[in-house]
Amino acid sequence: MKAAILRAHGDASTIEYGEWPDPVAGPGEVVLDVRTAVLNRRDWWIMRNPARAFAPGILGSDAAGVVRAVGAGVTRCAVGDEVIVYPATGWGSHDDAPGPEFEIFGVPRQGVFAEQVVVPAECLFPKPSHLTWSEAACLGIACLTAWRALTTRGGVGPGTSVLVTGAAAGTGTAAIQIAAALGARVLVTTSSEEKLQRCLELGASGGADWRDEGWPDVIRAVASGGVDVAIDSAGAASWPGILKALRDGGTLVNFGDTAGDVATVDVGRVYWGQLSIHGTTLGSPREFASLLDHVATDAWRPVIDVVVPLQRTADAFRRLDEPERFGNIVLEVS
Ligand SMILES: NC(=O)c1ccc[n+]([C@@H]2O[C@H](COP(=O)([O-])OP(=O)(O)OC[C@H]3O[C@@H](n4cnc5c(N)ncnc54)[C@H](OP(=O)(O)O)[C@@H]3O)[C@@H](O)[C@H]2O)c1
Repeated sequence: MKAAILRAHGDASTIEYGEWPDPVAGPGEVVLDVRTAVLNRRDWWIMRNPARAFAPGILGSDAAGVVRAVGAGVTRCAVGDEVIVYPATGWGSHDDAPGPEFEIFGVPRQGVFAEQVVVPAECLFPKPSHLTWSEAACLGIACLTAWRALTTRGGVGPGTSVLVTGAAAGTGTAAIQIAAALGARVLVTTSSEEKLQRCLELGASGGADWRDEGWPDVIRAVASGGVDVAIDSAGAASWPGILKALRDGGTLVNFGDTAGDVATVDVGRVYWGQLSIHGTTLGSPREFASLLDHVATDAWRPVIDVVVPLQRTADAFRRLDEPERFGNIVLEVS
């Protein structure tokens, strides 16, 4: 089969389109003909990190496709089923955090930037029929992470005021739409007027430019004294501002560190303001099922920035760093 192969750690030029051995399904596993896959920042981090780039290897966690073959004992799906992938194994039975076996697909396990991939049958869920192949593939990392951050960890519901940082990202665009669908009032930080306008179209009601030092005051003013919850993927650069933008008693939920991983924060603001800080990563298979129930009954759709053929995966990685990017970068595989 053909695949986008990570030849060495480094920049996008280390990704080559080439031949890779066809995968075979073992007991309990399924071979999927991948139709679409999605780039995530995780793939970018692994590609660049010499400690984590298992070369040669195949990146990619999120995919939608058609079941090609099933291994012994598989009853969950059949050849020809249209499915999407829950992108991890080993979450376990606890909802507060995954167990020690937790692993997200794509290096060291073969990822989905390939014509075929083997996944455990338990990771496959029916593709929502109203979504395109590109939209359906985005439900994995981007949408599930936003879903758990907002619901399980953030407790967001009707009337909650929510700040979303990293608003133009795959995760951020999902968070805006899901929060709005849950009845929240959504504010964002983003770095251009054009991107703010697009966030407003997705359901945000206002926002501020994170490059402007006064952005926390803008958010506090618009939210009449501070937001209830902040959903943050920017990380260190955003935390001091977020702690100001929250109302007393508010909650910061973080799942990323695009803009730095070590923050200096005002600890007094945390205890005096009765703030909560929650970390979150991905979501359990049970939360994925509840996300799919929500998606089936709601009108929002994952936002697609571009769709690029698998042959041009290196270009797709370059697009991830372009400031105009808005939403998910999808690979069209077949
Ligand atoms: N823990 C998990 O399970 C999980 C799952 C998914 C993602 N993540 C993490 O979440 C983050 C977001 O991932 P992604 O792939 O969706 O998007 P991404 O490409 O990493 O993030 C792009 C966003 O970051 C914003 N940004 C960059 N610098 C900023 C700064 N100094 N202050 C505020 N915002 C800034 C950009 O805002 P503008 O466009 O407005 O400039 C843009 O919206 C990544 O760190 C990723 O690793 C974690």
